[in-house]
Amino acid sequence: MSSTFRIPPLAELRWRRSAKWRTFPHDVLPLPVAEMDFPLAEPVAAALHRAIRHSDTGYAAPTADLAKAVAGYAHRTWGWLIDPESAYTVADVGIGIVETLRRIVAPGDSVVISPPVYEPFSWWVQEVGAQVVEAPLTEAPLADGTVRGPRLDLDALERAFARGARAYLLCSPHNPLGLVHPREDLVALAELADQYGVFVLADEIHAPLVLPGAEFVPFLSVSDAAERWGFSFLSASKGWNLAGLKAATIITADPAPQRYVDRMSPHSLYRTGHLGVIATVAAFNDGDPWLTEVLDVLDHNRILLAELLRKNLPAARYTPPQASFLAWIDFRALGWGDDPAARILDTAKVALNSGHRYGFSGFARLNFGCAPETLTEAVTRITGSGVV
Ligand SMILES: Cc1ncc(COP(=O)(O)O)c(C=O)c1O
Repeated sequence: MSSTFRIPPLAELRWRRSAKWRTFPHDVLPLPVAEMDFPLAEPVAAALHRAIRHSDTGYAAPTADLAKAVAGYAHRTWGWLIDPESAYTVADVGIGIVETLRRIVAPGDSVVISPPVYEPFSWWVQEVGAQVVEAPLTEAPLADGTVRGPRLDLDALERAFARGARAYLLCSPHNPLGLVHPREDLVALAELADQYGVFVLADEIHAPLVLPGAEFVPFLSVSDAAERWGFSFLSASKGWNLAGLKAATIITADPAPQRYVDRMSPHSLYRTGHLGVIATVAAFNDGDPWLTEVLDVLDHNRILLAELLRKNLPAARYTPPQASFLAWIDFRALGWGDDPAARILDTAKVALNSGHRYGFSGFARLNFGCAPETLTEAVTRITGSGVV
């Protein structure tokens, strides 16, 4: 790991007032909520300091700065051409998806998700009065016998689409597995969407955090069919740790989905965080060097976790993710019951997310967006606490 930036020690992190640091008592090591422990990117911090210095805390302004910054980043990073005119500002990805769903589904319509997946996906579907239909990820061998890790179950998706689903919530990269969907699966998904008339809402919030060895493919870039049926939701909130500042974008690449975005409230911009827009513009325009350092730490941590588990908890199953800072760990062979996260919190004072939240018993999600020493302490606490 070549990173030079200083990750604050735990005593300093405990000064933070965000959800990660205020949800649990002081003696708990918090590794659930998807926030990272790293210091802010310098250009982001500078932009925010400048705003505070000038008491620049009013409403977000109707300028093209955010759209241009997102488009510049997408082109530079993924070779994806976004029309800045199509980038619509919302407060966060959750609001963007809910407000889009409101315009494309009627109460009782079905919306498909692929568990294990970010828990609020099902909340968002229910929030608009639609029904959740599950097409879980699969590990079954491909038709030619090739065995691959977990991936989209295209057959299950086709069955759900054929039964009249109205929309699919694609998580790309997929939280909690950190799975980066290969282009061929996204192309096939777009063909199914086109064949059955299903909108694909691609939550691409973790895309800036794709780790070495994997290549992120933006859904809207894969085909004309993807453009006709797709919406992309992008923000800097995971990549640059800006979740509390509230700014995100909805991107479309065809008049058909665009017309639903055009029906959004004209007031949406004023519901977006002004500081969020300022920070996001700085992150997308000038945050690449910082992100490179973060990816280096995350790359190191995903392997460190594998080594720590192999040495201390060999029965736990974990495959290092291709993206982001989330580890999906299978504790079933350890006999720790349905909810190992509850047991670990109780005995080891380490907070993880329960697998139940993603529809899976015996699993837990761990956030390794932290110093390697914190990760080591977490596994040491778990193995040394008598939980084993
Ligand atoms: C896949 C995914 N989508 C959305 C969110 C939340 O994003 P926002 O705060 O912009 O609504 C998260 C947060 O962890 C996430 O993992």
